[in-house]
Amino acid sequence: MSPLPSSRAALVQPFIVMDMFREANALADVGHDVVHMSAGQPAGGPPQKVVEAARGALKGSYMGYTNSMGLPVLRETIAQHYQRAYGVELDPGRVVVTTGSSGAFVLGFLACFDSGDKVGLTVPGYPAYANILSALGIEIAGIEVNSRNRWAPTAEQISSACENGVSGLLLASPANPTGTMVTPDNLAAIARACADKKIWFISDEIYHGLNYEMPQASALSTNADAIIINSFSKYYCMTGWRIGWMIVPEHLVRPVECLAQSLFISPPTLSQYAAVAAFDATEELEQRKAEYRENRDYLLRELPGLGLGNLSPADGAFYLYADVASLTNDSFVFAQTMLREAHVAVSPGADFDKDRGSRYLRLSFAGSMEHMEKAVERLARWLPKAG
Ligand SMILES: Cc1ncc(COP(=O)(O)O)c(C=O)c1O
Repeated sequence: MSPLPSSRAALVQPFIVMDMFREANALADVGHDVVHMSAGQPAGGPPQKVVEAARGALKGSYMGYTNSMGLPVLRETIAQHYQRAYGVELDPGRVVVTTGSSGAFVLGFLACFDSGDKVGLTVPGYPAYANILSALGIEIAGIEVNSRNRWAPTAEQISSACENGVSGLLLASPANPTGTMVTPDNLAAIARACADKKIWFISDEIYHGLNYEMPQASALSTNADAIIINSFSKYYCMTGWRIGWMIVPEHLVRPVECLAQSLFISPPTLSQYAAVAAFDATEELEQRKAEYRENRDYLLRELPGLGLGNLSPADGAFYLYADVASLTNDSFVFAQTMLREAHVAVSPGADFDKDRGSRYLRLSFAGSMEHMEKAVERLARWLPKAG
């Protein structure tokens, strides 16, 4: 008999978005015109300045390993970004460059938690949080949010999570899959509540820059011990470059460096040179953001008429979480059939919320308006025949 996978590996759930994305790619590879609204990735590719910086770097820059914490110039540029964007003075020595924010989660979770610890997460939420935590033997305390509260945690939910023996709280604002943001005041209150209880606050700020309805704030402004996660994947349109960052408090710098040395050696060198230029590409990136907003407004107008209602507010990011209970009681099968028959790829809610997700779908509007129109046209034709 062959050796068995570890019990931990056997327990890790699939990241269904990535399964859908693979199936959508397989259809596209055999010639189908698939509208991709499953994975959350900007369709337009990286900004021109990033591409030019990468080309320039390839012509002669050093391409070996970098320091495990990242190139000094990139750490310095990220620290300056905090001064410009949030008015926060940040020591570049606290910036950790990572292989996407996904790499930051592994480092951050390992540095902050022991196996058996419990971490509070909003549900629905980004699936990889729970998947990575459970792979590391860390338990999850779900904080159920709902449409009545704009999919944001209430102050009572936060304080009861803090009272219930969690070692940390993780929150994304704007959130995935709903796009919901908490106001800067509420974010500050959550960050302070964690500081008062001496538990870790992990603030996933990956969708910063993509805020349509309210100003954004970094948890760094209120809680000097907060772990800040960010990435070049979303606002900066660099998903495939696998480059992100994390801000950690002074006393976590060395433990994180030791973990990074052995887990990753260093983040991708070419991507680091390119990422420095991303901070100069604001004009192009703001144009992209304006396009996402148009896509969002278009879908908010069109989808309810098709039966995809009770849409999340999408204050930020590029997702709508749609209630499809009038169309199906199994959004997983529904999404798979939609992909096969209508060639529109979306993500079933079960990925984000195991219990209530079967009545929801997540749609990413990070594509072009042409894609949004094509999806609406196809769904208008397909939905009357579905089921
Ligand atoms: C909330 C959230 N955090 C983190 C990630 C991971 O992104 P990356 O590893 O590309 O930085 C994603 C990707 O969709 C996300 O939605």
